[in-house]
Amino acid sequence: MDEPESLERRVVERIRRDGPMTFAAYMDAALYDESSGYYARLPIGESEDFATSPHVSPVFGELVATQVKEFWQFLGEPASFEIVEAGAGDGTLAVQILGAMEPAMADIISYTAVDRSQAARNALRRNGIRIAAALGEVAPVEAGCVVANELLDNVPAHWVRREANGPLQERYVDLDTSSTLSFVDRELSMPQLGLLAASLPPGAESLVRPAALEVIEEIARVLGRGYAWIVDYGFTGGATAERPYGYRAHRLEEDVLAAPGSRDITAGVDFDALARHARHLGLVVWGPVTQRHALRSLGWATIDRVRREAQAAAIGARQGITALRAYSDRGRAAQLIASGGLGDFLVLGLGVNVDPTRVPQSMRGDLS
Ligand SMILES: C[S@@+](CC[C@H](N)C(=O)[O-])C[C@H]1O[C@@H](n2cnc3c(N)ncnc32)[C@H](O)[C@@H]1O
Repeated sequence: MDEPESLERRVVERIRRDGPMTFAAYMDAALYDESSGYYARLPIGESEDFATSPHVSPVFGELVATQVKEFWQFLGEPASFEIVEAGAGDGTLAVQILGAMEPAMADIISYTAVDRSQAARNALRRNGIRIAAALGEVAPVEAGCVVANELLDNVPAHWVRREANGPLQERYVDLDTSSTLSFVDRELSMPQLGLLAASLPPGAESLVRPAALEVIEEIARVLGRGYAWIVDYGFTGGATAERPYGYRAHRLEEDVLAAPGSRDITAGVDFDALARHARHLGLVVWGPVTQRHALRSLGWATIDRVRREAQAAAIGARQGITALRAYSDRGRAAQLIASGGLGDFLVLGLGVNVDPTRVPQSMRGDLS
């Protein structure tokens, strides 16, 4: 694999040749350049740059499986059911979901894991799961569901700003006088950004993502009948992502231009925009609810109680290591619903040609 410096050199050469690039184009190169983009390697896991919910605790996949099973029941228990996971990474969630399925259901399920990173697809291949590089490659399924965890915050975003006197400007990546990557504001690269940022007040900035809306369109195309369950960090109630962040070695970094390819680049997801677009396409929309709400609705407390009892029994039997393991597993599962962390993530439920009165279990109740 090339060193990250070589990606920076190529970005600089591209700007010299073609002029400033949109932040979305820069993000695309920094994350997904085939040889040196950040996702050209597998950066997720406890010992890597960051850990997502399935890497934090298998309870996540176990509870998602509960929701998937209910989706299947809501669709009238069809004889075949397709799970499509978008942005599947190394397949940790896929393995958890499939592992939690009862044998009768395992027989009727097919699982397709979609990821645009070659390294991720190699890992998925090792797991023996059917793979695709893009949702656009997935043939429509008669009945099924799409699951996506922390996909959309990594989808390239345009960075727009409303000037004090009214017009919108877009932030591009350019070169300063010493040929270092720097920002410059110019006119919008596409008119759609003006619509997406129409309510941005003077002086405010926002990351907007036409490409995330395309993911919703792909979901609507792929699902003949079915559900989507989309999890990410982000906003609702009119808030927006004001700036992108870098992420490396479990730490946030503000500088997203230095050494492209060496860090994750991410920005919170505008769940209002997703829900609006899904409704516009005729989809049923539930939520967003917090991940805490969704996982508690799906039975988080029951799993914790079983583990607490196992921990107590192990202490009673003087099995110290077993007790310690149960304690540690409970702590990790608790991170999934923690305030100020993964518990505050949002989950959006979508339905395509489904009964809108049957509310998915993860979206029911008032547990936030
Ligand atoms: C933050 S990782 C999350 C991985 C996994 N879902 C998890 O929870 O650990 C985002 C993943 O989405 C993939 N990705 C980004 N854009 C994508 C797209 N348009 N289609 C498919 N995969 C994509 C990236 O390659 C990366 O593996």
